[in-house]
Amino acid sequence: MHEFKYSNRQLYCEKIRVEELALRFGTPLYVYSYHTLIGHYLKLKEAFKEIDPLICYSVKANSNLALLKALVDKGSGLDIVSGGELFRAIQVGCPAAKIVYASVGKTDREIEEALARGILFFNVESFPELENINRIASKLHKTASVAIRINPDVEPKTHKFITTGKITNKFGIDLKSAEKILLRCMSYPNVNISGLHIHIGSQITESAPFVAAITKMVDFIDRLKTKGLSIEYLNIGGGLGIIYDRESPQTAQKFAHKVLPLLKKTGLRIILEPGRFIVGNAGILVTRVLYVKSTPKKKFVIVDAGMNDLIRPALYSAYHNILPLRAKEEARREKVDIVGPICESGDFIAKERRLPVVREGGYLAVMGTGAYGFSMSSNYNSRRRPQEVLVIKDKVFIIRKRESYSDLVRNENIPAFLFGL
Ligand code: LLP
Repeated sequence: MHEFKYSNRQLYCEKIRVEELALRFGTPLYVYSYHTLIGHYLKLKEAFKEIDPLICYSVKANSNLALLKALVDKGSGLDIVSGGELFRAIQVGCPAAKIVYASVGKTDREIEEALARGILFFNVESFPELENINRIASKLHKTASVAIRINPDVEPKTHKFITTGKITNKFGIDLKSAEKILLRCMSYPNVNISGLHIHIGSQITESAPFVAAITKMVDFIDRLKTKGLSIEYLNIGGGLGIIYDRESPQTAQKFAHKVLPLLKKTGLRIILEPGRFIVGNAGILVTRVLYVKSTPKKKFVIVDAGMNDLIRPALYSAYHNILPLRAKEEARREKVDIVGPICESGDFIAKERRLPVVREGGYLAVMGTGAYGFSMSSNYNSRRRPQEVLVIKDKVFIIRKRESYSDLVRNENIPAFLFGL
């Protein structure tokens, strides 16, 4: 379900023609639909209403303040992974009691800041990290709440770069070590073990891997109980897949149907950390065709969005559907590579894609780019990062200005000696 649809062969976002936005704001341009964003959050909330979990939207998927504020206002908590994301969470007024903090490499400063704010808990990824949190909490005369991130060693059947719950991944702690650590933790004066956490990967389209991981957790929780250790929360992470191409991922309802019986068995308060599921289909990247170039072997459509604006195709060979903003009736199709202006052969948005013939000056929408689109963008090739706009019915709001050339060099400095002074 999303609010990007054709009407009279023109692509609309909610009630606004996307081409109007491209002409008004320039390209490349990220366009988000408010109702798609909130709709997905509410769908998940509804599917799990029986247990009323805390849904902590995963900020890394798209950290724009306006989107965070929209979700927080609907009751969402936030899953953060850095001091910067904590700063964003505070900026939008997210209650500290709804913030959970994961990351294998939290620095002392980041731990101190999160402790000072009183977040719900840290998702702890290693024993040395736990000792460090205890040390810092003791220095600040505080008690840190933590959830131990378990690596359940399950195969999520997704791209290897976004698999996180296999024992060869850097994330979490294996079950055996976790048990030892948990028992030892009881004697840490400044740490309170409030939960367990898993996050097995991203863009997972089936429920089986989730069921496998949660089943392991249910057994583990039972085992802990027999050792006298009881906890309050089970955080089952994010990872729900969406439709990019021909996937038919589980719906929120089906996912809930599969995992709810297991979750209820634990009797614990449940946390979910979805990112992509909420924001993935709520955003598109609009780009303009600069040139069409034919070579002896190929036809290239050169557009004004590059791998700095959207790195997913280059990094994961990710598929994003590409739609013209104006659809032609019975359009002739041809096989093309859609490439950006960046000086790398890896700078492509689509390869060997059959698309209706496009002309220079025409506009294309790269679909499903709300998650890990802008948030993974960069200034490579000294390109200004794109503008972002949010559409609510027939209204549009700039939620991030396009960067200027001075923004690019704002923090740079030429030492005086280079001027011969
Ligand atoms: N929780 C934790 C601890 C995570 O590491 C992640 C994502 C999430 C939740 C949210 O996962 P989601 O619901 O969005 O799948 N850049 C990649 C995805 C990396 C995911 C990293 N962790 C991509 O563009 O596909």
